[in-house]
Amino acid sequence: MGAQRDNVQGLQGGGLNASHGSLDYSFCFGYSEYSVLEEGLVSLFKTRVTEYLGIEYPIIGAAMGYVSLSDFTAAVSDAGGLGLLPATTYASTEDLRQEIRKVRKLTDKPFGINIGLLARQPGRVEQEMEIAIEERVPVVETAARSPEPFIPYIERLKRAGIKVMHKCATVRHALSAEQYGAELVTIVGFEAGGRPSADEVTTMVLIPRAADLLRIPLIAGGGIGNARGFVAAMALGAEGVAIGTRFLATHECAVHPRLKELLIQSKETDTIIVQRSTRGPLRVLRNPHAQRVLEMENRSASLEELLPMYSGQRSKHACETGEGLDEALLGCGEAVGLINSVVSVKELIAEIVTGARAIYERLKTD
Ligand SMILES: Cc1cc2nc3c(=O)[nH]c(=O)nc-3n(C[C@H](O)[C@H](O)[C@H](O)COP(=O)(O)O)c2cc1C
Repeated sequence: MGAQRDNVQGLQGGGLNASHGSLDYSFCFGYSEYSVLEEGLVSLFKTRVTEYLGIEYPIIGAAMGYVSLSDFTAAVSDAGGLGLLPATTYASTEDLRQEIRKVRKLTDKPFGINIGLLARQPGRVEQEMEIAIEERVPVVETAARSPEPFIPYIERLKRAGIKVMHKCATVRHALSAEQYGAELVTIVGFEAGGRPSADEVTTMVLIPRAADLLRIPLIAGGGIGNARGFVAAMALGAEGVAIGTRFLATHECAVHPRLKELLIQSKETDTIIVQRSTRGPLRVLRNPHAQRVLEMENRSASLEELLPMYSGQRSKHACETGEGLDEALLGCGEAVGLINSVVSVKELIAEIVTGARAIYERLKTD
């Protein structure tokens, strides 16, 4: 253990502060020998993630472009988790500001915005961060690339009292995010909907690897859709979970009922990876459009041919109207196999919490 701790400090330059506020978690987190389960229910639901973010349960409603809007974000936060509004959804930063204000009207609980660091227009990322400061958004999650070029902004956010999280899909990117000032980090495994890593490592291995090396709190994402997944992630060394795909089939998520029905009918084998050769892998629902895209990519179709097929407008239209569900790329993870009903966000979070308690009780008996 001592050798491992030295190794961790060596990797990180040895200078990082492991102070976790009023609670002493130093004995139970960050090192794989210490399962959270050994610490009991207090540690299962009260972690550095809940403490840092000021939330009741360590459950993050992962940002999902065009579908996790203010209603959804507020519902997750109101149910005791943390809702994250994806800034990428909004055509203008003013629209983003208005949506943040809507969340505020719906809940007085902490929430966040997700900022993709690959700018669509020059200066857009910086403007989104300014809005977070002006609107006193409690949490900012960065994603999509290294936060290194934005270190001065990250420091400004933190000085403004905003908690800064980063989301990535590899252990090395999590370590660099920690070095560049992120206070919490989410790592998503290859099962995840959206953009998993080209390294193709799954949550089951990524999380314990990262838990051994990181000092900041770790949130696990990718393939988590119920109480079993929640408890498993915590046992792997995470201090919270980020859930995307399973939340698609909730009443508050801005997805057309026809798509929610399609998700219920889909199995864990009904997703495929596209865009391996271009902008990085994207996990989507297996439908005729996705199959066509894959065939085109396999025969090295030109970017000119592919770009209209990738169009985010097709996906937006399908999600909003339930039309053209076979003609769009629909972001979706393997956890789609775990969806068997449409419930409210509150019901889903309550189910996870109650189920986790029951699993914990079962596991702790001899
Ligand atoms: C429909 C959909 C849209 C997504 N959009 C975004 C996005 O705009 N920004 C982002 O950082 N991640 C996005 N993601 C990824 C999620 O935030 C999260 O990392 C992922 O869903 C977690 O894995 P899971 O789907 O297995 O729960 C999206 C995922 C889905 C399913």
